[in-house]
Amino acid sequence: MLRGKNIIIAICGGIAAYKIPVLVRLLKKNGANVKVVLTASASRFVSELTLATVSQEQVYCSLFPPAESGNVDYTRHISLGEWADIFVVAPATANTIAKLAAGLCDDMLSACFLTLRPNKPVLLFPAMDGQMFNSSSVQRNLALLLAEGSRIINPESGELASGQCGLGRMPEPEAIAALIEEELQKSCRHSSLQGKSVVITAGPTREKIDGVRFISNYSSGKMGFALARAAAERGAKVTLLAGPVSLVTPPLVERVDVESAKEMYDAACTHFETCDVFISAAAIADYRPEAPFQGKLKKTGEELTLTLKKNPDILAEFGKQKSPGQIAVGFALECEDGLKNAIKKRIEKNLDLIALNFYDGKSSGFEVETNMLTLIGRDNEATLLPLLSKPDAANRLLEAVEKLIQPGC
Ligand code: CTP
Repeated sequence: MLRGKNIIIAICGGIAAYKIPVLVRLLKKNGANVKVVLTASASRFVSELTLATVSQEQVYCSLFPPAESGNVDYTRHISLGEWADIFVVAPATANTIAKLAAGLCDDMLSACFLTLRPNKPVLLFPAMDGQMFNSSSVQRNLALLLAEGSRIINPESGELASGQCGLGRMPEPEAIAALIEEELQKSCRHSSLQGKSVVITAGPTREKIDGVRFISNYSSGKMGFALARAAAERGAKVTLLAGPVSLVTPPLVERVDVESAKEMYDAACTHFETCDVFISAAAIADYRPEAPFQGKLKKTGEELTLTLKKNPDILAEFGKQKSPGQIAVGFALECEDGLKNAIKKRIEKNLDLIALNFYDGKSSGFEVETNMLTLIGRDNEATLLPLLSKPDAANRLLEAVEKLIQPGC
């Protein structure tokens, strides 16, 4: 898998940099082409000469070519970014992580990072003292980079440069090489979703009671956004119909913001005829106040009665209208009789696949980072997935969708 692949290894100034020459040798031995980018601080830990020797390539230490070289190519960061099949930052220090998250570009590493196409794989290996790693600013910056498409490999626990034991160690070169290979494999795998039009609903809806109040739910939108990212990574043309959430739009995804179930229904209807796959991950309110008050509803008597009216069931409507070849995927959020209810929903809404989301209020469901899904297909056979991060659960669900797409459709 590594043979012929173009890999950029970008090194920051941390003691773990001493492991990188071994990594470069390993990658070269497996047939990869490796170019090394070195920050100024990194060159205090590991020498340019060592890296040039093991990579058999020029090492990039500065944005600008050395004056004495006679080279006047001041756009090297662009050609380097285009050359790469994968961009690996190891070790990634707090300073460089902050620069990448902020979009600064005052050195070769950060400038090159900005030139990468949105679907190019990026692996970051943070390595630093555990206290630093857990600081709110490092975690905030990592969350931002993760949301924008980088894969973050958390440091391991063990002996640290400070002499203490704890979280902060960069994985060993063999483990890094295996992760690079895994990431490259993912990015070149052909997907039957390539070029397909995929519409995904995500997040909660808000149903107005009056001008300042609404009925909603705890949906964070994370599962729907993870699905949108994973579908775009597979080359699908993704439209994300998002309820009110504060999440970053994944790269290459067209986002349409809506508020109420009615707005989501209207936005979805415009795609019913043309989409290949419709995935409803949104927690759409089943009912809305029949007649929202204008302005602010004043407090009067001891009781207040709101009359609620049924909202359109968007997924059921798509299931009704869909033509052969179009695929409908839904979620079933259940607190009891999960399998029975999910199968009933799949049949009633004419779905090709339903993901049962059993709500236990802890590891699965709203506002958490993980999800435990059971996938139920047209044969009503149930496949229980393990407890996974939402991005991993999204990938497993899309693997099931890929199998439903007929070749040539
Ligand atoms: N759904 C929808 N439109 C609605 C309600 C739900 O498209 N008005 C979709 C959801 O996005 C989900 C599926 O239908 O993919 C099932 O939603 P769920 O809330 O589990 O069930 P409901 O059909 O609303 O039924 P109930 O609340 O009675 O369980």
